[in-house]
Order: sequence, then structure tokens, then C-alpha cells
Amino acid sequence: MTVNVGIIGLGIMGADHANIIQSKVSNAKVTSIYDKNINQAQRIIETLDNPEIHNSGLELINSNKVDAVMVVSPDDSHVEFVLESIKLQKPVLCEKPLSHSVKECNDVIEAEQKIGKRLVQVGFMRRFCPTYQEMKKNYNNLDVGKALLLHCVHRMVSAPSYFESVMSIRSALVHEFDIIRWLLETEIVEIQIIKSSIRKDLDFVDPIMAIIKCANGAIVDVEVNANAKYGYDVRAELVCEKGTILMSPSRKNELLINNEHSFSYGKDWRPRFADAYRNQNQAWINSILNNTTSEGSSAWDGMISSFIADKGVQAFEEEKTVTIPVKEKPNFYN
Ligand SMILES: NC(=O)c1ccc[n+]([C@@H]2O[C@H](COP(=O)([O-])OP(=O)(O)OC[C@H]3O[C@@H](n4cnc5c(N)ncnc54)[C@H](O)[C@@H]3O)[C@@H](O)[C@H]2O)c1
Repeated sequence: MTVNVGIIGLGIMGADHANIIQSKVSNAKVTSIYDKNINQAQRIIETLDNPEIHNSGLELINSNKVDAVMVVSPDDSHVEFVLESIKLQKPVLCEKPLSHSVKECNDVIEAEQKIGKRLVQVGFMRRFCPTYQEMKKNYNNLDVGKALLLHCVHRMVSAPSYFESVMSIRSALVHEFDIIRWLLETEIVEIQIIKSSIRKDLDFVDPIMAIIKCANGAIVDVEVNANAKYGYDVRAELVCEKGTILMSPSRKNELLINNEHSFSYGKDWRPRFADAYRNQNQAWINSILNNTTSEGSSAWDGMISSFIADKGVQAFEEEKTVTIPVKEKPNFYN
């Protein structure tokens, strides 16, 4: 059986997802595409198997050639497409964030519960990244005791021209919010953002340091550095009572050649998380074929990460520690 996938938004991530679905995932093909800018759709058409090009996202979702939808358009356009997919009972993989608006996320949660079926997966792909999965497995299976501290690094080569301070929280840190909850199986209850004031060449604050407290007592620090220059680098170190689990900084081999010990970094996030995107998309397709709930982030997880991001922005703007009340998860999402 093959799942026919329609993709909305064919920019950097949409083109990558189209390529992954078409050539790296089994039992799936891209049958339908839509981008507000027709050139974006046309530029990838030759890499696909004669897909339909639609005139709107809603038209694509309603096409009888589409079994499942990927929403990869800009953040503020996601929810309309997700709600239409739920209405038609089509599974939808929505890139993160589900929405920056907690109210809009709640609209999705309400619609999904009304239909009575979990149809939404949010693209927090780190849950499918082998390095994070290995860390979680080691934490759960080795005799390391309870997690005390998690040190996270989130570095980009350089920020795009449109970057602003809150994007460090809403676009970057939001990945850590999701992975902390998943890895440590706890909720985030407090956040503080410390601003660096050294760099004068930027018109936004960079780097920032988030200090996060979890309901289980673990403390997390996250460096978000949008101008690390040397490469894209995401990693973590989990300090437990009886041992520490250190994530390798790269998915590539380390080289010991010519009197040097080295490994290479990608220019952006895609090489670092290539396995994660592929595994995520395959798990999504498998869950559709098997009629099971995918183990990826749910609409509830999407809402929680945006809720924490709001508190992070408040902590940044008001320069104070902000408490985050724990929301009660409906059984529907257990
Ligand atoms: N999971 C991750 O690691 C990750 C990484 C990068 C981006 N993202 C998310 O993926 C999404 C896309 O990001 P990107 O980097 O590919 O952006 P992009 O700007 O490269 O591409 C967006 C595309 O959407 C099109 N578009 C604009 N409005 C549209 C609409 N209303 N309907 C259909 N198409 C529309 C644009 O023409 C463009 O081709 C964003 O939500 C972003 O936050 C996730």
C-alpha cells in the first residue's frame, strides 16, 4: 500500500520533505503540491512523479489524490490547513510550531477531540534523531540514577537578515522545550533568560542562555547562539546521579588524520538532523498505514511548546524568572 501525500509549502523544508517522502521513505509518494509562489512548486516538480499542482492549500487537502497532508508553509499559515485536514479526517504532519498562538493550538486540540481521532503530528523531529534516542535509551536503561542537569547547546552559523531576539525562543529554543519534556518525561515549570550584552554588531540579543526548571527537579541550561560562525551545532549532556551521558556533536565520523582529530559541521540544521527527518516521516507513514497513533509530538505537545515559548518571551522581555503552570493533559492525548 502507498500513502499519497500532499505537501503545502515548498521552500527549504518543504522541498526537503518532498524529497524524503519521494525517495527515502517506503510506502509513500508525493501526489500533490501547493505553494503560494508557483515557482517554488515548479522548481521541484521534476524530482517528483508527475504530481498535481494545486491553486490553494484547501484545494490540495480536498483532493481525492491526497491521503495525508504535510504542512510546511510559514508558521502563521499552519492552523488553517491543519483544521481543514482534521475536518476531512486526513492525517497531517505539521512543521513546528503548530502555531505561535496557544489559542490557535487549542482550536486544533478541540477539533481533533471532536472528530475523536488523533490526526495531528507536529514536526519536532528531534524525537526521531538517533543521538537523542540513544541518550533517552541510555538514561532509561543504564544505572545512572535520576537526571540532575541537562546542558544543551543550540548554535547556528549565522542568523538570517530577518532574525529578531524572540526567534531565539520561538523558533530555536522551542525545539528544546519539546525534547526536554520527551527526554526527561517531565514538565517545564520555570524559565529565565539571561541576555548577553557583549556583541554590538547585531540588532538583536545574541547569544541568550535559558535556565529552565522541571517538575521532577532537573535543571536545564540552553545556550542559543545564532552566530556561532564555525558550523551548525546541536548537542546535549545529561548529568545524572551516578553518571553522565554525553551526546556526540555530529552524526558524521570523527577523523584522525594528518596529526589532527576532527569532525565536520554542517552549514545549517539539515545534515545534523537528516536521519531525524527521515525517521520522523517514515514513522508518520507507518502510523497511517497501521492505523496507529504516531509516537511523534501531538497537537497537545505542540500547544505546550508554544505556551512555554510565550513564558520564555515574557522572561526575556521582563528580565525575570517566570513560573509556568502545569496544564492537565486530557486522556485523549495519553
Ligand atoms: N523542524 C525543523 O527543524 C524546521 C526547520 C526549519 C523550518 N521549519 C518550519 O518549516 C516551515 C517552513 O520553513 P522553511 O524554512 O521551509 O521556509 P521557507 O520560507 O523556505 O518556505 C516557505 C514556503 O511557503 C510558501 N508559502 C508562503 N505562504 C504560503 C501559504 N499561505 N500557503 C502555501 N505556501 C506558502 C513560500 O512561498 C515558500 O516557498 C516553517 O513553519 C518553519 O518554522 C522547521
